[in-house]
Amino acid sequence: MVGVVDTTLRDAHQSLIATRFRTEDMVPILEKLDRAGFYSLEVWGGATFDVAIRYLKEDPWERLRTIRENVKKTKLQMLLRGQNLVGYRHYADDVVDKFVELAYRNGIDIFRIFDALNDSRNLVASIKKAKSVGAIVQGAICYTISPIHTVDYYVKFAEELVSLGVDMITIKDMAGILDPYKAYTLVREFKKRFNIPVDVHTHTTSGMAVATYVKSVEAGADLIDTAISPLAFGTAQPGIQTVYFSLREDLRPSVDLKVVNEISEYLENVINQKYSKLLTIKALIPDHNVLFHQIPGGMITNLIAQLKELKAEHRLKEVLEEVPKVREDLGWPPLVTPLSQIVGTQAALNVLLGKYKVIAKEVMDYVAGYYGKPPGPINIEIKERVLKNTKEITVRPADLLEMELERCAEEVRKIDVPFTDENIVTYCLFPDVAREFFREYYGEYMKKIRELEVEAMISYSQ
Ligand code: CO
Repeated sequence: MVGVVDTTLRDAHQSLIATRFRTEDMVPILEKLDRAGFYSLEVWGGATFDVAIRYLKEDPWERLRTIRENVKKTKLQMLLRGQNLVGYRHYADDVVDKFVELAYRNGIDIFRIFDALNDSRNLVASIKKAKSVGAIVQGAICYTISPIHTVDYYVKFAEELVSLGVDMITIKDMAGILDPYKAYTLVREFKKRFNIPVDVHTHTTSGMAVATYVKSVEAGADLIDTAISPLAFGTAQPGIQTVYFSLREDLRPSVDLKVVNEISEYLENVINQKYSKLLTIKALIPDHNVLFHQIPGGMITNLIAQLKELKAEHRLKEVLEEVPKVREDLGWPPLVTPLSQIVGTQAALNVLLGKYKVIAKEVMDYVAGYYGKPPGPINIEIKERVLKNTKEITVRPADLLEMELERCAEEVRKIDVPFTDENIVTYCLFPDVAREFFREYYGEYMKKIRELEVEAMISYSQ
């Protein structure tokens, strides 16, 4: 019998409605999600943190606490980008430690931790901290297709994760390109070698996901990730009801489909009322192209937005054709945040300005090793050009960073907000966005506090 990770409140709405699902619309189904029989609920991390403060003006910590209050028995999990946490650059170890500690304290039981390059040095700090606070760690392997990414490669990386002490292994297929038989092979290899649970995470982008889960479970996968319609399928995880009936009877999870159907009904109403504009047909229709170009849906959306700004939307097809070439030149990085943005930007530059006429700053940093070790060799001409101006590093990138927490705390102290650890970490992660967010979120609140203080002073002096 397989266990199920429900991703409705994180990956599914991140994939389908640009991460815009609000806490107030989550609350009415939390108690039901808790009763549905899922192994865990993925509710936090990934893009949800950034989007909450940048666009929704919601406090992500407050969301987590609200979910925790209402989900009493089912485990809660988050997606953590290794040393990048929920941001787009490496943070110093003191920020990593504090973030993990606070996430755990506010309600996270399971940390699913990945690095875009599958470089375990970028995972060491967060895994260690998560283990030390008593959390469960899922070490995630970014799945991609390239001459470098063989079964042997994945087994070797899984061995590294196991030696770091992870409690489970997650095969993370962000683009939806893991086919059923490859999934079968990988799960079998992992189950044969390692004595820990294996979880498979895929997206229905190409339409293969249900078949991939069926073969994964037959191979012995302990967990699979699904979502609840209408926040399911398309670029998100497949719906649990469909996956349930696709599985061999004795392997089906023990979820309460009656409760799940009630959640579906609620979601259908709330999506129709509030989010239907965000849910595009394009995100829902299976995309066969991804099987050939292997570019995740979110990355294409980003590229379209970038090209639109440059009034070059009509060149999208050329840019998409350039992406695999740039990937090869850069040693086949998996196309996941932040590498998907970096490869996409360089592909656009190549098409619009000429091949490597301009090399993006991020590409230079990548080539010099500041993101970690590239999976394969980098095109020698590009490497030589970059290393003329940028010094190559071979140490763990975060070793070069100065501690950040103190400085952030000093700056938060100067802003008119409650001086909490959570606010300090929010500021550390996204200083500019945080300032703006604090102003909107605490503006009225802080005014009230000051009024009350003045009143108290007056009544005291009387
Ligand atoms: Co995903």
